[in-house]
Amino acid sequence: MKKIFWFILAGCSFLFGIEGKEVFDAKCASCHRYYISLNELKKNAQSNNTLLELKAPTLNQLSFGVRLNIGDIKADEESQRLEVEEFIENYIAAPDKKKNVVPPEMTKFFPAMPSMKDLLNEDEIEALSNFIFDYGEAMIIEHSAPFVSFEKAKELAKQENKIIMIRGILPYCKWCIKMDREVMVEKEVVETLIKDFVVVKTDVALEKLPLGMKSLGTPSFYFINKDGETVIAQIQGYRNKQEFLELLNTVKQNAK
Ligand code: HEC
Repeated sequence: MKKIFWFILAGCSFLFGIEGKEVFDAKCASCHRYYISLNELKKNAQSNNTLLELKAPTLNQLSFGVRLNIGDIKADEESQRLEVEEFIENYIAAPDKKKNVVPPEMTKFFPAMPSMKDLLNEDEIEALSNFIFDYGEAMIIEHSAPFVSFEKAKELAKQENKIIMIRGILPYCKWCIKMDREVMVEKEVVETLIKDFVVVKTDVALEKLPLGMKSLGTPSFYFINKDGETVIAQIQGYRNKQEFLELLNTVKQNAK
């Protein structure tokens, strides 16, 4: 009986161990804000920070910055996580603009960060660093139109009279990442997609495209009629918000 008790207790302390979010709230959130869309942040930078009056880069900027610039994005995730942890540990002990991972045009108006050397222990740094690492991706999912499997998409498209849009991506394709961060999270894009489309995301290195379609390279978009069989359009290349909305409109016209 005793043994079981200790076993459960050990399990709990693992589950309720240090939370990265709590460390962030206690040690970083007084200066670094949570999510703000990159388009808003761009406008803010153009206003020389008079629009939002931020004290520091936002958490999604930190997350995006480390994912793109620290370690090898093509390597396995665990090794990138370790490198990011080392970077965070290093940066908070000895902040230095030369090490920055957020583009300089977005940070030029900030003062230097004060050093927080010895204010966090190893466990706190590890939890915090994992939290920063995962945050950006979690925000993209939260702010984008939901995506489903192709099988599910066929069902939904038929039921709800919608067009299937398959996004062909690779995890380390920079233009795919740029679209994720700057286009897919924009309100008008999300609204248009939710209203008239069902979205499928396919890593073309891992999965084949349906209906015998060949990947055109990434990023790419494959539109299929509500019947789940007729290909309406196959398009390759980055689109900014306006161009992407125009593309969606053209596809809608052609699907009629
Ligand atoms: C007193 C305010 C303050 C606190 C507290 C603070 N920071 Fe910062 N931080 C800043 C400022 C200001 C900058 C921008 C400095 C720059 O651009 O050189 C910054 C920049 C950074 C950067 C680099 C961003 C880039 O451009 O590459 C990282 C990483 C970072 N902070 C992490 C943290 C973490 C993690 C914590 C919590 C442990 C934290 N900061 C706490 C003010 C703060």
